[in-house]
Amino acid sequence: MSNRMWGGRFASGPAEIMQEINASIDFDKRLASQDIRGSLAHAEMLVAAGILSEADGTAIREGLETIAGEIERGELPFSRALEDIHMNVESRLKDLIGPGAGRLHTARSRNDQVATDMKLWVRDAIDGLDAQLADLQLALAEKAASFSDAVMPGFTHLQSAQPVTFGHHLLAYVEMIARDRGRFADARRRLNESPLGAAALAGTSFPIDRHRTAASLGFDRPTANSLDSVSDRDFVLEALAAASIAAVHLSRFAEEIVLWTTPQFAFVRLSDAYTTGSSIMPQKRNPDAAELVRGKTGRVLGALQGLLVVLKGLPLAYGKDMQEDKEGAFDALQTLSLCIAATAGMVRDMQPDPDVMRHWAGAGYATATDLADWLVRVLGLPFRDAHHVTGRLVGEAASREIGLDELALCDMQAVEPRITEDVFAVLGVEASVRSRTSHGGTAPDNVRREAEQWLLRLRAPAVG
Ligand code: ARG
Repeated sequence: MSNRMWGGRFASGPAEIMQEINASIDFDKRLASQDIRGSLAHAEMLVAAGILSEADGTAIREGLETIAGEIERGELPFSRALEDIHMNVESRLKDLIGPGAGRLHTARSRNDQVATDMKLWVRDAIDGLDAQLADLQLALAEKAASFSDAVMPGFTHLQSAQPVTFGHHLLAYVEMIARDRGRFADARRRLNESPLGAAALAGTSFPIDRHRTAASLGFDRPTANSLDSVSDRDFVLEALAAASIAAVHLSRFAEEIVLWTTPQFAFVRLSDAYTTGSSIMPQKRNPDAAELVRGKTGRVLGALQGLLVVLKGLPLAYGKDMQEDKEGAFDALQTLSLCIAATAGMVRDMQPDPDVMRHWAGAGYATATDLADWLVRVLGLPFRDAHHVTGRLVGEAASREIGLDELALCDMQAVEPRITEDVFAVLGVEASVRSRTSHGGTAPDNVRREAEQWLLRLRAPAVG
């Protein structure tokens, strides 16, 4: 049988494999509620513009509302023969209200329809992700406030570099996520123009009111160019790009959780709620959630790459290739949502061990910079000379397998005679972090203040 929606000039139906490659209903059924929202707005506008009678408009609205209920309750069987969500809904409307259903598609095409649906879906997804990211920031800021003065080793090259505080480390992620939210907000702002009414590609001869449908769907304005309207998927790319960067941030944090929970680090413990056991090794507590956040990032980045490649060779305007925007975007944004939720769960669950972190904070001569700074500040050495003197003192301590603060004053004076007893005050890890009071530095007072400011902002209603 030829297609009941567009079968006029077709004598027979598609080959089975044609249907298999062509049909998108298996995945675009997720656009059902957006599709119905778009159709309701379009029908209402057609009536207001005098293109559709009040009676047809009412029948269409009631029919669409019935279908929305059927879909919500899982009662509407979707058909592959009807290709996609748009034609499944329209066909059901015809069953319900008769041939008047055919008037809904006046001055519209599936090309502007799918662009509209997808924009509404991505916009909804961005709003959901933003709320989740704000919650993750809150979880991090709360932990940071509780551990604003817990000293831990700060790393560069994954080698002990200088002591920092655990709160400072967590607040670094709060900043990253703030930028992620900014990128999503920016993408949302640019996305928020309505393609509806661009029709197939050229616009329409009917006196439609695109401003009206734009406003009723919560868009800021209609898009300006009909060709661009139906061929633009920048909004999906931008959402996926923002999602990719956010996923990379979560993945880096996940990797830190994996390191921190490994017994050789033991900086942090996750409860049974966020660990799994091994079927063979009874001692194991595996941080699977963190590993999966790290692992699932691959899918998010893959979706961005996939869509960039789909679009790169497409001439204007619509091409069926564009149907390939959906599965990747659905999967990626849903995956990110799951990863954010799991990360927030782990942050709230994690129990840092300040004693272990403090122990390692002093290892690896992490206060060597503090010693060099002391030589500059108190003895007036040029930093390069201070660096050299400190290097010799570290070498001396290392050869004796002791810490810098365990060197005897006379041994220090053998390297630099002007060193006094006062130097020991800067060799402890607490003194080190306390001294880092520069803007953005790790001093506990700074960290406490930053954490409190974030908590205020995040707890204020509707601000981030
Ligand atoms: N399922 C299609 C998609 O997702 C809808 C648009 C189809 N348009 C067309 N001219 N065949 O892209």
